[in-house]
Amino acid sequence: MNRFLTKLLVSITVLAMLACQQKAKKETSQANQEGPAEVLDSTHFNELVDGKQVRLYTLKNKNGMTAYLTDFGARLVGLLVPNKHGALTDVVLGFNKASLYNNPEEPYFGTIVGPFGNRIAKGKFTLDGETFTLPTNNGPNTLHGGLKGVHFAHWTAKQASDQEVSFQYSLPDKQEGFPGNMQMTVTYSLSDDNELTIAYEAKSDHKTVINLTNHAYFNLNGEGSGAITTHQLQLFADRYTPVDSTLIPTGELAPVKGTPFDFTTAKEIGRDIETQDLQLSYGKGYDHNFVLNGTKVDGMNHAAKVLGDKSGIVMDIYTEEPGIQFYSGNFMAEKVTLKNGNKDSFRTGFCLEPQHFPDAPNQPNFPSTVYDAGANYHTKSIYKFSVQ
Ligand code: BGC
Repeated sequence: MNRFLTKLLVSITVLAMLACQQKAKKETSQANQEGPAEVLDSTHFNELVDGKQVRLYTLKNKNGMTAYLTDFGARLVGLLVPNKHGALTDVVLGFNKASLYNNPEEPYFGTIVGPFGNRIAKGKFTLDGETFTLPTNNGPNTLHGGLKGVHFAHWTAKQASDQEVSFQYSLPDKQEGFPGNMQMTVTYSLSDDNELTIAYEAKSDHKTVINLTNHAYFNLNGEGSGAITTHQLQLFADRYTPVDSTLIPTGELAPVKGTPFDFTTAKEIGRDIETQDLQLSYGKGYDHNFVLNGTKVDGMNHAAKVLGDKSGIVMDIYTEEPGIQFYSGNFMAEKVTLKNGNKDSFRTGFCLEPQHFPDAPNQPNFPSTVYDAGANYHTKSIYKFSVQ
């Protein structure tokens, strides 16, 4: 090769390397500083749902962590969290248009469930000798407050700051069969330590049962990025509440040791999920309440630690509740399209719902969910994000 050609080749190689470096630098800086484009367009949330105006509310902290919420169901519809490279990743499943949440086929994405989250056996419970009957919407049982619950309710929003928004709802007496007019307030706040706190308050004018929680579906590798079975999960629970074939607890608090339910040290969600096990067969995977040990951090129960294996995102959940429902997305069946255009395929999201135990109104040995008229219900859960 003559000298001219050699020089030309060297120059072309150097130029190509420089261009590659520039491109990589630009991508890193976009990921670090800007993250993905806005995942939600607020104009798609300014629409009428069920004849009432719905809006999008945005909370942002100094690290760019962003929570998107809507007043329809007081829902968390998106959550941008920095991954191990500093790029913002949306870790909550949802839709990009408010009206898509009004779907009885997939009603619980990101929503508050209540007035009684989880199941009540055969849609019945008794207080002071009076039996209350609820609509059944999950086989023979009532799930997540019934047909409308509070997930299809229009809550009234008050945004106190860029890092806090509250939603209020008045549940009328006997709506979905629950006694009493109940005032509820749910406040979402985002700290500069990357903690999303959900605080719940409620009060009824009649003795009733209350169990509020949030029903976000998480994928810490990113919404719509594939199965969650490779996530690592640790649950601070030595016991769980086994269920019957309709997912109602038998009343027993069973040890997890030696069973697929042992998450006392971190393990992949998918490691034991296909084990031949009667409890797993009832839930088609994990769909069970875990009894928290009460491992206290700043006065709250450390409930769970989850790691997104690809993103390095870690979510710790702290709660004042005695239990947490772990649902591994076993009934997800490509019924809907997510924000990023992908389908809600089998086990592409998991829920961890801090709560009192399922069917507590009918289970005298479970912590009580009964509140007298005028009594204050309050509870709080924190979702803290970090990277590893
Ligand atoms: C329940 C599941 C149910 C899911 C619906 C969970 O809280 O435990 O059985 O399918 O909610 O989103």
